[in-house]
Amino acid sequence: MKVLLMGPPGAGKGTQAELLVKHFAIPHISTGDMFRAAIKNGTELGQKAKAYMDAGQLVPDEVTIGIVRERLAQDDCQQGFLLDGFPRTVPQADALDETLNQLTMNLDAIIDIQVSHEKLIERLTGRRICRQCGATYHVVFNPPAAESKCDKCGGELYQRSDDSRETAENRLDVYNKQTQPLIDYYQAKGLYKRINGEQEMPAVFQDICAALGRDA
Ligand code: AP5
Ligand code: ZN
Repeated sequence: MKVLLMGPPGAGKGTQAELLVKHFAIPHISTGDMFRAAIKNGTELGQKAKAYMDAGQLVPDEVTIGIVRERLAQDDCQQGFLLDGFPRTVPQADALDETLNQLTMNLDAIIDIQVSHEKLIERLTGRRICRQCGATYHVVFNPPAAESKCDKCGGELYQRSDDSRETAENRLDVYNKQTQPLIDYYQAKGLYKRINGEQEMPAVFQDICAALGRDA
């Protein structure tokens, strides 16, 4: 199963990706996670990405395209993968097409999770993440049992630096200007499925599985 997971910041891509990759036993390729890991490890990639991410801007295409190309060429992607947060611009989508052609791979589906602006801001500003295992919570919609502690590993929860209200608004502006045009791009190619992301998390998962023609 080779799937693209699209949707604005806060739509629930990461939340659903975690469930989907477990269910279908495929690798999860999240450009945002790759950049955050690079920043944490102090690599050259992290140094290039940091200022853009802190400002809620996109990391330049040439940087982003290179890391995805490398990742898709690895053996574990042959049978399938879930791409989360890539592509986000038309040049990235063109580069993805070219890479898939070179690797003789075809996409099975493009899943676009849609949520209103107001709810996205609420989700982003209330999100908390475990410093130890990366699990995602929300102060209202998915709170941990004990305040500021991860249910899974007891790790400390923190707020992503780009989840302040101001940066979240910037990210949504960038999405509307640079990523939204991809909807027409993919609708024209077929395979595009829109999912109502304003439902409870299990219902969103059910709808995605149904759109993929698979059992949940
Ligand atoms: P990235 O890490 O990809 O972030 P994003 O797209 O902004 O998406 P988020 O991770 O914020 O949200 P999500 O949709 O995964 O939502 P989540 O499941 O956590 O990108 C970060 C930055 O990296 C970019 O700004 C850019 O700088 C750079 N970057 C990344 N990819 C790039 C690319 N291709 N090109 C250039 N630059 C790139 O859910 C959000 C919250 O809502 C959580 O608290 C969750 O618990 C809650 N929630 C989830 N589902 C539900 C539900 N159904 N009901 C209620 N609450 C819910
Ligand atoms: Zn944890």
